[in-house]
Amino acid sequence: MKNRTAVVTGASSGIGKGIATMLLAEQCRVVVNGRTITGVFPPSDRLVSNDHDLTDPATPSLLLDDACLCFGECDYLFVNAGVFASGMIGDIDIEKICDMARLKVETSYRLIYTFLKYFKERGKGHIFITSSVLGTKVRETAGAYAGCNYALEALAEALRMELADTDIQITCLEPGLVKTGLHRDWKVPPSVLLNISDTLMPEDIAAAVKDIIAKPAHIRIPRYMILPKGHRI
Ligand SMILES: NC(=O)c1ccc[n+]([C@@H]2O[C@H](COP(=O)([O-])OP(=O)(O)OC[C@H]3O[C@@H](n4cnc5c(N)ncnc54)[C@H](OP(=O)(O)O)[C@@H]3O)[C@@H](O)[C@H]2O)c1
Repeated sequence: MKNRTAVVTGASSGIGKGIATMLLAEQCRVVVNGRTITGVFPPSDRLVSNDHDLTDPATPSLLLDDACLCFGECDYLFVNAGVFASGMIGDIDIEKICDMARLKVETSYRLIYTFLKYFKERGKGHIFITSSVLGTKVRETAGAYAGCNYALEALAEALRMELADTDIQITCLEPGLVKTGLHRDWKVPPSVLLNISDTLMPEDIAAAVKDIIAKPAHIRIPRYMILPKGHRI
C-alpha cells in the first residue's frame, strides 16, 4: 500500500474514517470525502480533504481530480458514504428513503462510473464498495436499505464478470453491525434491538481491507461478509 493513492468517501466518521486511518498508517496517500471532513484528520502531505456533498453530480470527478492532481494517480476507490433510513413500509418517510437511495445508489453508481473509466485507461485499480450483510438478505423495517445495498451488489457482480480478465478488481464489503454514527437517530440502539454485546468496530473493517489488499494479484475477493459474534440474521 505504501505510496499508493486511495479515495475514501464517508471518511468523516465510522467505517470510512477507520479505513482512511489504516491507509494513512500504511503510508498510503488518501483523498478523504465527507461534508464535515474538515479537521477530522491531522494535516499531512499524504492527505487531501474534500468536503463536497456527494449528491452533487460534479463531486466524483472532483475527487478523481484531487487524487490525480495532488498525488499523480489513483489506485483504490472506497465507495462507502451512506445513511440508513428504516421503518415499516406503511409508516416509512418516503423523502428519507429517496434521499438514501440517491446517496447509496445514485452517487455510488456515478462514482464507480467515473473512476472505472480512469482505471480502464490505466489498466488497473481496485474498487471497494461498503454494501452490508443487508445486501444479501432482508429483515423487517430494512427493506429499502437492503434494496439499496442489493443494487450495489448487482452492479458489483456484473462488473466482476465484465472485468474478470483485467487487473481491475471489485470487492463488496458486507459488514453486520458496526459501531458507527449510522444509527445515531435510532431511539433504541441496534445492539440492544439485535441483542449483540460485541459489535464490530470500524477498525475490524479496516483490518479486513488490509487483508484483501495484501492478497496476491491473481486472487479476487468479490464479496467479504464480516459479522459480530451473536449476530443472528
Ligand atoms: N454501521 C453499520 O452497522 C454498517 C453495517 C453495514 C454497512 N454499513 C455501511 O457502511 C457505510 C458507512 O457507514 P457508517 O456505518 O460508517 O456510518 P457513519 O459513521 O454515519 O458514516 C457515514 C458517512 O457518510 C457520509 N455522508 C453522508 N451523507 C453524505 C453526503 N450527502 N455527501 C458526502 N458524504 C456523506 C458522512 O459524512 P458527512 O456527514 O460528513 O457528510 C459519514 O462520513 C454506509 O454505506 C453503511 O450503509 C454500515
